[in-house]
Amino acid sequence: MTEEFRMNQAEIDRAVEHFRSLLKQQILRAERLSESETDRGNTFPKTVIGLIGGDGIGPIIVQEAKRVLEFLLKEELKSGSVELKEIDGLTIENRIAAGKAIPDDVLEAIKSCDVLLKGPTTTPSGGTMESANVTLRRELDLFANVRPVSVSSLGIDWTFFRENTEGEYTLGSKGIAIGDALTMDFKVTTEAGTRRIARAAFDFARKNGKNHVAVVTKSNIMKKTDGMFSRICREVASEYPEIETDEYYIDIMTANLINPEMRNRFQVFLLPNLYGDILTDEAAQLQGGVGTAGSANLGTRYAMFEAIHGSAPRLIEQGLGSYASPQSILQATVMLLSHIGMPNKAQRLSEGLKAAAALCPIDGTAAHATCAEFGDALLKCLLDR
Ligand code: IPM
Ligand code: MG
Repeated sequence: MTEEFRMNQAEIDRAVEHFRSLLKQQILRAERLSESETDRGNTFPKTVIGLIGGDGIGPIIVQEAKRVLEFLLKEELKSGSVELKEIDGLTIENRIAAGKAIPDDVLEAIKSCDVLLKGPTTTPSGGTMESANVTLRRELDLFANVRPVSVSSLGIDWTFFRENTEGEYTLGSKGIAIGDALTMDFKVTTEAGTRRIARAAFDFARKNGKNHVAVVTKSNIMKKTDGMFSRICREVASEYPEIETDEYYIDIMTANLINPEMRNRFQVFLLPNLYGDILTDEAAQLQGGVGTAGSANLGTRYAMFEAIHGSAPRLIEQGLGSYASPQSILQATVMLLSHIGMPNKAQRLSEGLKAAAALCPIDGTAAHATCAEFGDALLKCLLDR
């Protein structure tokens, strides 16, 4: 051992203790997961939809989604079977003041809802503050991140099932540093965590007449974690003999998505958290950019729907926040409506969005419509259908 590392013996001992305690916590979590496999799907007498503005352009785009929901759910809001609840406090300023990724009162308000529509929240890079997104996914146990991408002119109709609570994200803010010389982060994969996302993906494929699932890992390198992910996915796949399952490594899959010879064979993707994060941005770009894609975070008790882009601080700094495009959050609203058992309203919004995009081009710059103008055009299109 070099002098530098010998001098850090106390830090090494602390790191070993830290690792021991992480390991214990994760063993407990894995045990809880494997015990809670039963479906606790809820049928609510009333559905409370929480609207979380978030940071930057978030409140601007969520405002348009709110107008749309008020319009489409007019009857339900009147009869009280649906309630919209605005939750304002999930801002970077409040989170810094509370020294927490989600202040306690905000988390309590969020947990009093059934489904959530959430604008982007700022994730500070470095430091120890965990991302609000990651914390929410964990606190609400939103284990399936479902992201559809479709480009009919290219024959693309993909649905990504990204595992949403494990991998590099579980302990992403709990890594180890030994002085300035060495850093280590941890990646966590559990059997129960993998099994439930695999089931979600294969059930979706079966229910929607899809006959191909692509499992994406890097199990040749990440032998333990991705190795387990791949093994469990193969096990689950054997329960769905009508569905063909192939495994690809993440590197070649990033190439396949832009390979016209390959990409049309894909339907459903099943992947660990970080690969899903990266691949879905690439896929969304083929559809017109991350501003056009919505995302569903599903658990057994809660579900949260969000835009897949960030809070666009540069747009706000340039004073151009009012030009933010609400398309991604509105795609998420389509998914929300379908999730709460209103497929017809979801369809109406989805068609309305296509019509509004043709009528009122918007691209997040001052050259085109503002967010509110797009909202007006959309409401007009919705009235027509
Ligand atoms: C996403 C985002 C988040 C993620 C960030 C904001 C934490 O990129 O939803 O894809 O990494 O999952
Ligand atoms: Mg992402």
